[in-house]
Parts: sequence; structure tokens; C-alpha cells
Amino acid sequence: MGSDLDDSSESGTEMSNESTEPKNKEQPEQGAHSEIVASHYNKLEDRGLFARKKSNIFHLRNFNNWIKSVVIEEYSNLIKQRIPLGSPFRVLDMCCGKGGDLMKWISAKATHLICTDIAQVSLEHCESRYNSTNNPEKERRKVEFFAADATLQQLRTKYKDPSMRLHLVSCQFAFHYSFESYKQADCMFKNAAECLDEGFYFIGTIPDANEIMKRQRLAMADSFGNDIYNITFQCDPNNPPLFGAKYNFQLDEVVNCPEFLVHFPTFEKLALKHGLRLREKKRFDEIFDKYKVPRKFLLERMQALETYPQSSGRGMQHNDGPRKDATQYRHAEEYERQLSANQFFRVGTLSQKEWEAATLYLFFAFEKMKTTYDAVGKPIYS
Ligand SMILES: C[S@@+](CC[C@H](N)C(=O)[O-])C[C@H]1O[C@@H](n2cnc3c(N)ncnc32)[C@H](O)[C@@H]1O
Repeated sequence: MGSDLDDSSESGTEMSNESTEPKNKEQPEQGAHSEIVASHYNKLEDRGLFARKKSNIFHLRNFNNWIKSVVIEEYSNLIKQRIPLGSPFRVLDMCCGKGGDLMKWISAKATHLICTDIAQVSLEHCESRYNSTNNPEKERRKVEFFAADATLQQLRTKYKDPSMRLHLVSCQFAFHYSFESYKQADCMFKNAAECLDEGFYFIGTIPDANEIMKRQRLAMADSFGNDIYNITFQCDPNNPPLFGAKYNFQLDEVVNCPEFLVHFPTFEKLALKHGLRLREKKRFDEIFDKYKVPRKFLLERMQALETYPQSSGRGMQHNDGPRKDATQYRHAEEYERQLSANQFFRVGTLSQKEWEAATLYLFFAFEKMKTTYDAVGKPIYS
């Protein structure tokens, strides 16, 4: 078994040719961590805007939100080019949390929105957040909120109309929880794929296992990170299994939870089993490079980057927050030197440690293939 999770390798538990199900059936107990994850997210307080602004990861959160905004906008536009004007645009936000993407769905003019998450408290928050929004389409938009474990339960049976066809399924910062076991990941893909209409999309964001492995090797330790994030392996990093490759992820005071590495070739193979063909895979730094100019206005409006230096001087902090460490902005100063900029130099940037945390992630998009059925009712995708 290979020692890394490089995309090119078929490392990890041996896989059969026919399916992605590992031949090694020694699987962890199904969903053993789901409760831990649900209880962690249920306990997360919704800190007010003031507290969020003072947070060490204020810009990182905004940056992640900007990434989601641009990809949701891009895929919603693609969909709207293909469906007749005025026809329904149906979205499933799988693992929606407290509804961080609600406004994005409203802006995208989704006409039917299903929000689901394992964490009941988060979901209630999401629903009341939606109810408190005021938007012109609200009266006409259909919305559904329900709690479910997307790695163990069939979501379709919980929809008001289980025969519904979706145009977009989104799973942001969550699919990796299903990589606890083959069965859970398979169930999560089934949920993502089964109601998706032919030619439409499943999009999401997950930690980039290659990047995590690269950093682990560089650190030559089971635990590594910086002041705002930490990863501690809870499996052998030299021999991670395809499923159940557990590590603990800590992000400032926001996340402290067991997560699982997503071996991308396995992820892609499992997706194909459900009729999902990979359309796009991009690390967050690549998304940033692609959209930083065309979506600059949104970058600024969402305060996804901080201005360096602040008017009050180098290394000073935004918005009443604590003073920042100037060593975190060497890249900005280097950029200034390259530009031979004058004294009015200002740049939008993230601190080194926030950038390191942001670039742990990647974006993916799949397209649902054409589905026909053989004589025994088995789906054939083409
Ligand atoms: C990092 S949060 C992301 C929330 C939201 N998608 C966003 O981007 O703001 C991960 C979410 O996944 C949810 N989650 C984790 N495991 C899940 C499961 N098995 N079924 C459904 N939701 C799950 C958690 O409760 C949490 O709300």
C-alpha cells in the first residue's frame, strides 16, 4: 500500500476493478463520528458581527465566503443559460449549517431551496435566518428545511416531493465527513446525485488531502499548523487508509472536530458510480487567481482581503482588532518592492497564516451524466 495520497497513485486500501468499495472490509463503525460532528456544530455559538470582526480569522472567513459566492454564481449562471426563462431553479444545500449560503441562493434566484444538515440546532438557526430575510421572491420561493445525516439517510425520501429533479446540489466544507467509511461516502454521493437532472451540477469544497499530506511531510510530525489552524493525525500518515483516514482539525475557536482525508481519485471514482463526471477541480489559490480581477468588486465588498499597510501604519490591524504581526505580511512588502511602488502603496492581502489555512481547500464540480437503465433496472450512465 502506498504511503501517500497523491492523485496519480492508487494508494491505500486495495480497490476492486468493478467498484470503489475497498476489498478490505475492515471498516470503522458506520457513522461513529457523526454524533461528535453534529454536537460540535450544534454547540457553535452564532457570534455577532462585532465579535466576528474582531476574530483572528475575520478575513479568512470572508475569503472562504467569497470563494463560495463566485462558484455558486458561476454555476447558477450556467444553469440559467440552459433552463427556459422563468422556469423553476431547484437547489439542494446539503450540510447547509446555519445557512451561510442563504443569501447566495437568494441572489442566484433559486425558486426552490432545500436545506439540510445533521445538526438540528444549526438547521433551526438556518430556517429562522431565512424567515428573517426580506427579499422580493420570498413569497414565490419554495423552501424546505430538515435535519438528516446525509451519510446514513436517503434525503430524497424526506423531500416534500421525492420525485423532484434538481439543477444544483451544493455541499460546502462538509463532504469530507463522509469519508469516515466507504458506505457513508457512497450514501452521500447517492444523495448528491440521485435527484440531479441530466447535465446539471454537483459542486462543493473539501480539504485538499494532497496539500495536507505535503504539509505533514514537510513538518515531519503528526501535528502541524500555525497560530490559527492545527491538524493532528489520528491515523498513520505514512499509511493512510482510503476511508477513515482520521485527523483532528482545529481552526481558531471555530472548529475542533475529527475529519477524514478525501483521496481524490477515490472520490472521483465513487462519483462516477453515481453518474457524476468530474467537470472541474481547483485549489482555492487557483479559484482566487481566476476570479480576483473579474470579481474584484465582490472581493472588496465582502472584505475578503485586508488592506496592507493600514493607513495607521505597517502591521496595524483592521477594524479595532488587535495589532497584527508585520512578519505575516512579508509577501505584501515583497510585492511592493517588485512594483517599486511609491509611498502610497496599498494592497489587498491575507496574513500568511490565514492564506495557509485558506489554501488547505479545493473546489470541485461534477456534471450528472445521461442515465438509462438496463433490463434489470441497473442505471447505465453515459
Ligand atoms: C464547516 S460546516 C459548513 C456549513 C455550510 N455548508 C457552510 O459552508 O457554511 C460543516 C457542516 O456539515 C454538517 N455535517 C457534518 N456531517 C454531516 C452529515 N453526516 N450529514 C449532514 N450534515 C453534516 C455539519 O453539521 C456542519 O453544519
